[in-house]
Parts: sequence; structure tokens; C-alpha cells
Amino acid sequence: MRTLSGIQTSGRLHLGNYFGSMKPNLDLVSKSDESVYFIADLHALTTIHNPKELAMFREEALIDYLAIGFDPEKTIIFYQSDVPLHTELMWILLSCTPMGLLERAVSYKEKVEKGIPASAGLFTYPVLMAADILLYNADRVPVGKDQKQHLEMTRDIAQKFNQAFGETFTLPEPVIMEDVAVVPGIDGQKMSKSYGNTIPLFGDDAAIKKSIMGIVTDSKGVEEPKDPDSNVIFQLHRLFLSSAEQKKLAEKYRNGGLGYGDAKKMLLETYMDFMKPMREKREKISKDKKYLEKVRKEGAEKALHLAEKTMVKVRKAVGLQ
Ligand code: ADP
Ligand code: TRP
Repeated sequence: MRTLSGIQTSGRLHLGNYFGSMKPNLDLVSKSDESVYFIADLHALTTIHNPKELAMFREEALIDYLAIGFDPEKTIIFYQSDVPLHTELMWILLSCTPMGLLERAVSYKEKVEKGIPASAGLFTYPVLMAADILLYNADRVPVGKDQKQHLEMTRDIAQKFNQAFGETFTLPEPVIMEDVAVVPGIDGQKMSKSYGNTIPLFGDDAAIKKSIMGIVTDSKGVEEPKDPDSNVIFQLHRLFLSSAEQKKLAEKYRNGGLGYGDAKKMLLETYMDFMKPMREKREKISKDKKYLEKVRKEGAEKALHLAEKTMVKVRKAVGLQ
């Protein structure tokens, strides 16, 4: 069973990314025989045209993923662009991809509506994603709901290729993480870097304190009973607690006597305790450029080894050998 996933980074990671994507992925990885995880820097190029930013975001993402517990001895972790076979396979797959399929892509339309320039890269984004997956004959691909259509397209493209050139690719099974809760931002909307309402995963102490103390609340006084289910401080706090601890804290909200200032201070303390080991690890890793270079190089070598096996078959199938 091979699990594969990729992340496209276009900013610093936040608490919503951690509970909605990074943590569930890490849990799945530990349950797989083999796992491949890459940072989709070529995909990021469809939206970031600032070389310093692109380089910084991908390195930050690598450090963040190592800090939260991805183990390069157990997971093949690498930058997509370090394995040029992704783009070679993409070109071959483009010839088996009907225009109509790409024209139906929801994420392309949404991105263009948001103001991202409608480049051919953005339009053919799903084909590069299909190449990422098919290159490693992945059995399982865990992604968020927003990526479901891209996985269906991957399966369609693989089928078209298999029909035209003979059985070559495994059809991947999507693992859609439907049940992960939406983490609210400090203003109560979904936490998202586009809304500027995030709590950073690895920010400095002052930035974390500022965002937690800035959580928007109503004007209920200290003694008034409060409803935990509609309270953003509680909804964030519960992410770190066991169900017994959640119950206890919910009672405190309902009973009255807990003011918002104190509730925020408690959340801040819990957050800092929870993040402490990961922050210490991150601090260490980020200074160790030699280690990072080693992880990058070894990850790319292992990935290349797997990818080359597939490409030998693909080149032979299409007549390019
Ligand atoms: P953003 O909304 O900040 O741009 P991304 O779209 O880059 O975040 O999300 C990367 C991953 O993190 C996705 O798998 C997404 O489902 C998950 N994610 C982002 N924000 C949240 C949130 N508030 N709650 C749960 N999961 C989230
Ligand atoms: N498009 C995915 C995202 O935005 C990232 C990604 C690129 C990916 N290639 C992939 C995810 C292959 C899974 C498999 O989150």
C-alpha cells in the first residue's frame, strides 16, 4: 500500500492547515507500508511569480513538515521540481487529456475568479497533478474535499492512457478527508490566509499572543453563562483537548464566571504547551542547513528511483524508448 500526497504552499502555515491537513496526513502516513510526500513547488509557480517567495515558502514548508513529525527515514519527502520526470510525464499525459475534461475543472474557474492570471500552467494544473500521482503508482491519495475533482481527473487520464497504450497505470483511490472539522479563524470565519484571520503554527511568541488575544467575542460579562458551541475561543481550545477535558471546559463556559480574557489566556497557555516540542524541533532543524540539504537530496534520489521505473514503462508504451 503506497500513500502519496503533495502540498502546494503559498504562505506560512496556520493552525487550520495543521488540524485540517498536516496532522491527518501524518496519521495516515504512519499507517502505510510506504509513503511519498512532496512539496509541489511547480504547482506553486502557477500563482507565485516572486523567486524569493517561492524559494522561501518551499523551504519553510519542508522545515514545518519535519518539525511536526514527518520522518525522512520512513517517508520519501522531496521537492517536486527536483524530480524532472514529473514534467516529462505531464507532457505525455497532456496528449491523452481531452480539452473538455480540463474545461470542466472547478478549481481553475475559482482561481481565475479570484484574480489569478489564466495561464496555460493554471489550466493544465490537473495534468501535472495526475503525473505526480501516476509516476509513483500510488494506491491512496489523501486530500481535502477541494481536491476531489482533481483526483477524478487523474483517474480519467490514467484510463485514457491505459486504453490507448495498454495497462500501465494503477488507478489511485482518493482518501477524502471529509470528517476533519473546519477550524475557525480569530474572526469566526473559516481560518484561511486569504482572510488574514489565522493563528500561525510557528510564529514568534508575540505574533501568536497577538492573534489569540485578538479573537473576536461578544460583550458578555465575566459572570454570564456562555454557549461553548458558538464560542470561537472554545472551538479552538477543544482541538487540543481530550473529550473528557472538552466536557469539563464546556461546563466552565456554561456555568458563568469565566471571562473572555481568562479564557484566551488559558487557550494561549495550552497552545504554547502543545507546540513547545514542535517549536523546539523546528528551531533546531531550521539552523541545520546541512541536514536540510541531506533530506532534500536523499528524498529526491529515492523518488527519482521509483519514478524512473514508471517512466521506462511509459516511454516504451508510447514508442519513445
Ligand atoms: P488557506 O485557506 O489558508 O489558503 P490552503 O487552501 O492552502 O489554506 O489549505 C491547505 C490545506 O489545509 C487544505 O487541505 C485545507 O483543507 C486545509 N485547511 C486550510 N484551512 C483550514 C481550516 N480552517 N480548517 C480545516 N482545514 C483547513
Ligand atoms: N493540488 C494540491 C493542493 O493544492 C497539491 C498537490 C499537487 C497534490 N500534486 C498533488 C496533492 C498530488 C495530492 C497528490 O493541495
